Amino acid sequence: MKVPTPQAPSRRLLLLAGAGASLLPLVPARAAGAIATPQQTEGPFYPTAFPADMDNDLVQVRGQQARALGTLLHLEGRVLDLDGKPVDGALVEIWQCDAQGLYDHPRQSGRDKRDRAFQGYGRLLVSADGRYSFRTLKPVAYAGRSPHIHFKVATSTGRMLTSQFYIAGDPGNERDGVFRGIRDPRQRELVEMKLTPAPGLEAGALATTMDIVVG
Ligand SMILES: [Fe+2]
Repeated sequence: MKVPTPQAPSRRLLLLAGAGASLLPLVPARAAGAIATPQQTEGPFYPTAFPADMDNDLVQVRGQQARALGTLLHLEGRVLDLDGKPVDGALVEIWQCDAQGLYDHPRQSGRDKRDRAFQGYGRLLVSADGRYSFRTLKPVAYAGRSPHIHFKVATSTGRMLTSQFYIAGDPGNERDGVFRGIRDPRQRELVEMKLTPAPGLEAGALATTMDIVVG
């Protein structure tokens, strides 16, 4: 009786196996449990008219000597999709109140007392690697709200995200109805700014890196 000998794999099979192995890492795998930055209300203070200067430096208004009052904050990050890839060509807008809690908006009572050295609103197009950066103020609380920075992202393919950044660990967050509307702790993390001193950037400045994930 002839005993079957194990067959050596054919050259073709080996080639296929090799090709498969080399292709596998190239298939983009969505990060397990990847989540998008949560949507939040736009609120009542989105500008009705844009300032003449609406660049990404909100603490220096073009043509003015004075710098805005308040603590400087360098806010930067990337706009990413759910696969972690940079979103090219996205427009990022931010707006917030000044150091006294006043918005530059017709619905703001006491608007005439606002700090005119604070731009209040800024925008920029992200770079090819999805990066954005703003020079702005550490946000302050005002009646009924914990400190926050409003932001809006519009991608070139028409996706929109409106949300707000908060200060991680601010005791007001748990009393803020808008913040509390985000129940998932992983989603909260995407809007909680961890502020660190950044004296290397400029005296007295804080910095934070916040990637924005557009779903
Ligand atoms: Fe607000």
